[in-house]
Amino acid sequence: MRHFWRRTATAALLCAILFLPGSASPGPRTAQPFAATLRQAAEARHITIGAAAASRYLTEAEYSAILGSEFSQLQAENEMKFGPIHPRPDTDPNPYDFKGADALVAFAQSHNMVVRGHTLVWHNQVPDWVKKGGYSAPQLADILHGHIKTVMARYASKVYAWDVVNEAFNDDGTMRDTIWYDQPGIGAGTGTKYLEQALRWAHETDPGAKLFYNDYDAEELNKKSDAIYAMAKDFKARGVPLDGIGFQAHVGLYFDDPAKLASFARNMKRFAKLGLELHITELDVRLNDSSPASLTAQAKLYGKITTLCVLQPACKLLQTWGFTDRHSWIPGFFKGQGWALLWDDKYQKKPAYAAVHDALAK
Ligand code: G3I
Repeated sequence: MRHFWRRTATAALLCAILFLPGSASPGPRTAQPFAATLRQAAEARHITIGAAAASRYLTEAEYSAILGSEFSQLQAENEMKFGPIHPRPDTDPNPYDFKGADALVAFAQSHNMVVRGHTLVWHNQVPDWVKKGGYSAPQLADILHGHIKTVMARYASKVYAWDVVNEAFNDDGTMRDTIWYDQPGIGAGTGTKYLEQALRWAHETDPGAKLFYNDYDAEELNKKSDAIYAMAKDFKARGVPLDGIGFQAHVGLYFDDPAKLASFARNMKRFAKLGLELHITELDVRLNDSSPASLTAQAKLYGKITTLCVLQPACKLLQTWGFTDRHSWIPGFFKGQGWALLWDDKYQKKPAYAAVHDALAK
C-alpha cells in the first residue's frame, strides 16, 4: 500500500510539472548564465537568434567566424528576393540566379544553422523584366506562381520559414498600391486576396515551411498593425495557411519609451492569442553618433526588446538586420545615422551585444 501512495504521489508531481500552463512549448524558458555566445543563451530560452547576411561577405574571416558561432539562424538580406534570385524572364535559358542564396544555405548547413527565407512577394527589388514587361494580371499571376513554386521547391527542407509577403499595408492600414496588388495586380481581387493567394501557393509548394507576413512600423498598436491583425484573424478563421507574423523592428532611441514598449508587448499578445508564431525579423537601433552615452542608451533598448521576446512564449526569433556596423543598410538610407548593430565596424562587440546576451541569459 505504501508503495502505491508513493508511486501515485510521484505521478501527480510529474503531471503538475508537465502540464503547467505554458510548458506545452519545448520546455520552460530557462536561463543559461554561463552561455558564451548569443546562440547558447538563446537556445536555453528556446529562441532562435538570427542575423541577415550577404554571401559576398563570407570571405571576410571575422564576418564568417561571428556569423557561424554567435547565431543559430541566417537570412539572406537580399539574395532570395525576386530581383536578385530571378533577374531574367522565364523565356531566358537561365531565368534564375541561385548562386548567392545557395552559398548562404551551404554556410548555414556547415555551421548547423537554420535558414529563414525573405521574401517572395514585395513591391521592392522587382526586376525590370517584370516591372516593364507590360504583363496582364493573369500573366503576372502565372509569373508569381511560377516564382514561388521554383524558389520554394529549391529550398524545401533547407528553409524552414518564409516571409511570403512583405510590407503590403500603408501606415494608415490601407493596402499599398503595388505591381502584385493593383498595378495591375495578379487579379486575385481586392484587399488581402492576393496575400491569401500567395500563401496558398506557398503552402502547396512546401507544406512543411512556416509561412509569415512581415512588416515595419507595426510593432505597436496602430492603424497598420490593426489592419494586419484583422487580416490574420480572418485568415486563421478561414484556414488560410498563415503561421506567423514578422515584426521588422527597425527603430531608434525614440523607441525606448515605456508606452511604446508596452504597446509592442500588447500587440504581440493579441497576435499570439490567434495561435500565431511571432518573429522579430530585422532589429536594428540606429544612432546619431557613437558616443559612449549613445551606445549605452542603445544597449538598454536592445536589452528591453530582447526581454519582450523572452517574456512572450510565442516569440520564437530575435533577428538583427546584419550584425556588424561594417555592413548595415542604415547609413545609406538614414543619412547621418548608423552604428545600429551589435558589433562595430571593426568586429568588436558593443555594449548592445552584452545587453542582448544578458537579457537572454539572466
Ligand atoms: O547588387 C547590386 C549591385 O550589383 C549594384 O552594383 C549595386 C549598386 O546599385 O546595387 C546592388 O543592389 C543593392 C542591394 O541592396 C544589394 O546590396 C540595391 O541597390 C539596394 O537597393 C539594396 O538595398 C537593400 C534594400 O532592402 C532594398 O530595398 C538593403 O541592402 C536591404 O538591407 C534592405 O532590406 C529591407 C528588407 O528587405 C525589408 N525591410 C526593410 C529593409 C531595409 O530597407
